[in-house]
Amino acid sequence: MPVTVITGANRGLGLAHAKRYLERGWTVHAACRNPDAADALGALNGKLHIYRYDAASPDDANQLARSIDAPVDLLFANAGVMGAERGEQAFGHVAPDAWIEALRINALGPLMLAQAFADKVAASAHKKIALQSSRMGSIADNSSGSGYVYRPSKAALNAIGKSLAVDLKPRGIAVAILHPGWVQTDMGGDNALLSVEESVAGQQAILDDLTIETSGSFWHQSGEILPW
Ligand SMILES: NC(=O)c1ccc[n+]([C@@H]2O[C@H](COP(=O)([O-])OP(=O)(O)OC[C@H]3O[C@@H](n4cnc5c(N)ncnc54)[C@H](OP(=O)(O)O)[C@@H]3O)[C@@H](O)[C@H]2O)c1
Repeated sequence: MPVTVITGANRGLGLAHAKRYLERGWTVHAACRNPDAADALGALNGKLHIYRYDAASPDDANQLARSIDAPVDLLFANAGVMGAERGEQAFGHVAPDAWIEALRINALGPLMLAQAFADKVAASAHKKIALQSSRMGSIADNSSGSGYVYRPSKAALNAIGKSLAVDLKPRGIAVAILHPGWVQTDMGGDNALLSVEESVAGQQAILDDLTIETSGSFWHQSGEILPW
């Protein structure tokens, strides 16, 4: 059965992806900042391994890759942050340190992961990388403004994803840039439209169908292709 590495796997979308892949019989290497406190993750049944990983720490991606001695069919860079409260995302209120930290976690983190894991993904049967982006990172789709911390971090992630799709194509690695929808998690809030189960079902269907020919697109969990 296939093997996946999922970051931010202790809660929200990452936890739901870990649960569903385990139910499907996959081996899940789950990465989170604090494994000792990852009770919901640790309670899942199946072929589960848990690692400490902080997306803001430059060497953690390499350390994680060294810890996993196996081909990786799907590298899922899911961990992410809003980076600031809503009011601090508004014009006139942006703190530089928060802006840099969001970029570090949401964009640089996934790039470091892709660099660290490319050989293991290339050595696998499925050869796929998923990036958990957001529609908020779409420049074409931005009609409401603001979001000066979160939006650029996901736009940068989208640019990275597109380059990864081009650069890793010769190695047979397909890359999906994903929007999960507006989902009921700590980040999405209780009023969000989708349950985590609905969102991950849609995302996993997209990843199941992902091929080297469709690599490099930006997908809503509904299957719709989103504009950059
Ligand atoms: N929910 C939505 O509506 C929505 C919409 C668009 C995109 N997304 C994206 O989906 C992804 C998951 O979001 P979610 O809704 O599941 O949010 P969430 O419930 O807030 O979970 C965020 C996850 O990311 C982890 N994380 C945060 N900073 C980290 C770091 N420095 N290193 C490692 N892990 C870190 C968190 O770990 P800790 O528990 O240690 O903080 C947690 O596991 C994010 O990339 C987010 O931008 C979500």
